[in-house]
Amino acid sequence: MIPIAVLVSGCGTNLQALIDAGEAGILCAGKIALVISSNPAAYALKRAEQYHIPGIVVEPKSYSSPAAYNHAILGVLEAQGIGLVVLAGFLGILGTPVIQAYTQRIINIHPSLLPAFGGRGFYGLKVHEAALARGVKITGATVHYVDERVDGGEIILQKAVEVWEGDTPETLQKRVMQEAEWQLLPAAVELVCRKRER
Ligand code: GAR
Repeated sequence: MIPIAVLVSGCGTNLQALIDAGEAGILCAGKIALVISSNPAAYALKRAEQYHIPGIVVEPKSYSSPAAYNHAILGVLEAQGIGLVVLAGFLGILGTPVIQAYTQRIINIHPSLLPAFGGRGFYGLKVHEAALARGVKITGATVHYVDERVDGGEIILQKAVEVWEGDTPETLQKRVMQEAEWQLLPAAVELVCRKRER
């Protein structure tokens, strides 16, 4: 079983989807070994605690530079023998040392059909605001490998979701999570873990 670290910053509903998938036997080729939060107030940490998953805070502002921050994250991942890193609503930026040490072993969930509404500045509700402003009728979610291009790595899985008349960023975010993200992320994690086990 591949030891997984889930990196979070907020509510952690995608972390919850992974925990639930583990309990349901949908995620069985990997196991969540660690949750790392960039935010000490993240509700995701409470979810980890509830399921007895070790949770730690690595906050960018506690480090003198992005390089020092990345060095700290890499140190934790290596010390814990982590085999796969899952970014689930993580707002920190991973730099070259982490990305190179974990090539094809970091994946991210993004709440749009990439390459639409991706890249620097597109995160959380902002993605849905942009989709509504553009007037798209279909949006969705993407799980992709992380490389040095923001939201530009190889796509693993995608799922489309309809935009409804009268949607707000909040209603659209909720539907994208319910209809796409919470199934897509566990499925992609299982797929990648199986591939790495071979
Ligand atoms: C999710 O919608 C995720 O796709 C998005 O942040 C939310 C986190 O929610 N990620 C990004 O926008 C990354 N660019 P969660 O904390 O409840 O899982």
